[in-house]
Amino acid sequence: MTAAIPISLEVNGERVEADVLPRLNLADFLREQLHLTGTHVGCEHGVCGACTVRLNGVIVRSCLMLAVQTHGASVETIEGLSDSGEVADLQAAFRDRNALQCGYCTPGMLMAAQDLLKQQVEPDRERIREHLSGNYCRCTGYQAIVDAVEITARARMGRVL
Ligand code: FES
Ligand code: FES
Repeated sequence: MTAAIPISLEVNGERVEADVLPRLNLADFLREQLHLTGTHVGCEHGVCGACTVRLNGVIVRSCLMLAVQTHGASVETIEGLSDSGEVADLQAAFRDRNALQCGYCTPGMLMAAQDLLKQQVEPDRERIREHLSGNYCRCTGYQAIVDAVEITARARMGRVL
């Protein structure tokens, strides 16, 4: 039997100490041990983007990382971005533009969209599509999601569509 390994990391600004099995991926660690179920699991092999989180400020697929690899790191999940209000305007735009239906992809979409808007103040629709191309949505057809990101970018610039 494999022994659990102690790790210490920051999750949404709070110190977390835990014992994890070496094979446990970050998505399952967040969901099952920390009960941060906003991080969703879809494909479990790095394709759908539902499990997107921030690791030391950079978005990553949490299904492709082992929890032990986050020792000493800072992890931010959709709960952290939501509680801090960082993505409040994006969330409102998603609601207003009907950019979510079942909502399964939404946490990952919001993480990826916010990542883009931090890098680029006013991306055009092509750039938005490109940046979100690693996040799959089975419901919306993407148009409304691009609308929501675009209107948020413009609102942050002080303009409204
Ligand atoms: S669950 Fe990680 S990319 Fe799909
Ligand atoms: S809203 Fe259902 S998968 Fe995107």
